[in-house]
Amino acid sequence: MNFGVIGYGYWGPNVVRNLMSLDDSEVLAIAEISPQARLRAQKAHPGVKVVASSAEVISSPEIDAIAVVSPVWTHYELAKAALENGKHVFVEKPFTSTSAQGEELVNLAIQKNLRIMVDHTFLFTGAVRRIKQLVDDGSLGKLLYYDSTRVNLGLFQHDCNVLWDLAPHDLSIMDYVIKGDPEAVVATGQAHLNGHEDVAFMTLYFPEKVIAHINVNWLSPVKVRMTLIGGEKRMLVWNDLEADEKLKIYDKGVDIGSREGMYELLVSYRSGDMWAPQLEQGEALRQELMYFVECVSSGKDPFNDGRAGLRVVRMLEKANESLGKKGSLVYL
Ligand SMILES: NC(=O)c1ccc[n+]([C@@H]2O[C@H](COP(=O)([O-])OP(=O)(O)OC[C@H]3O[C@@H](n4cnc5c(N)ncnc54)[C@H](O)[C@@H]3O)[C@@H](O)[C@H]2O)c1
Repeated sequence: MNFGVIGYGYWGPNVVRNLMSLDDSEVLAIAEISPQARLRAQKAHPGVKVVASSAEVISSPEIDAIAVVSPVWTHYELAKAALENGKHVFVEKPFTSTSAQGEELVNLAIQKNLRIMVDHTFLFTGAVRRIKQLVDDGSLGKLLYYDSTRVNLGLFQHDCNVLWDLAPHDLSIMDYVIKGDPEAVVATGQAHLNGHEDVAFMTLYFPEKVIAHINVNWLSPVKVRMTLIGGEKRMLVWNDLEADEKLKIYDKGVDIGSREGMYELLVSYRSGDMWAPQLEQGEALRQELMYFVECVSSGKDPFNDGRAGLRVVRMLEKANESLGKKGSLVYL
């Protein structure tokens, strides 16, 4: 499959490198508006055509698919042009700036029988695959909560707030792992520097009393990537910064009962073993791009398709609405 890649800033080089490492794909052209980034791309990939115009790449007849790796406000226009030119689309998270744009792209892809995949990279990590398995096979029991901290100093984005930058990771994981769609959202935050919220907290209410919370922050002195998932049977801690043992499963929990004749609840704590399962190794982005090529070749829609991207954008849109009302509950 022949790819054109648009955007060669921070993440673009990873997409190009991984596409070039696959047996079944080739990068024929890169479009980048920055002359410095074009120089970097040309030096790293002398055999690839590097141009300034995205239109030139999108209209090229030799290209089958376009990877859109530019800032979020450009995704809609570029992905739309790619679909209109008959190209499959691999597009970065967050899918689009508004849900109306996302809906239009999803419908256009259906009309043209083309695939859209939204780069929700974490879904292809060994840790998230294992978490999904533990939830689906009932090892954790009924889910109670998902609580994630994703903070570090910088990289400030200029076109979106910290929720749109960092929360898509957790929102895509929740969308994948938690049964049912969220019913309501509350978000609070503050913009200290460039008019976009740089510290934010988001709470989502899912069906069956599952609650999720995300803490995202560009002003943290330390980097933390820590997620707790609690179930009735077991609980897990995923520390993505750990080199080994990223995932720890605790056989801990709370049992509540009442004895006949007693009106007070009896709370007992279970404290059993902890184990750290082996996780699949390998670069998540590579696995994801391999899956994209497979989906396009077989004509099947990926599970992280445009509709999955759209569900995440809807959550972000409602979170922004709640942010604007200083944390009012907003229904999805
Ligand atoms: N999946 C992940 O884990 C992950 C990680 C980082 C970034 N991202 C996403 O990747 C996208 C890009 O992020 P980044 O950090 O690389 O940003 P960046 O600003 O470093 O790079 C974007 C590049 O796109 C170029 N560009 C902008 N408009 C263009 C156009 N019309 N045609 C050609 N080039 C254009 C810019 O010149 C810039 O070099 C964002 O959507 C971001 O959310 C995803």
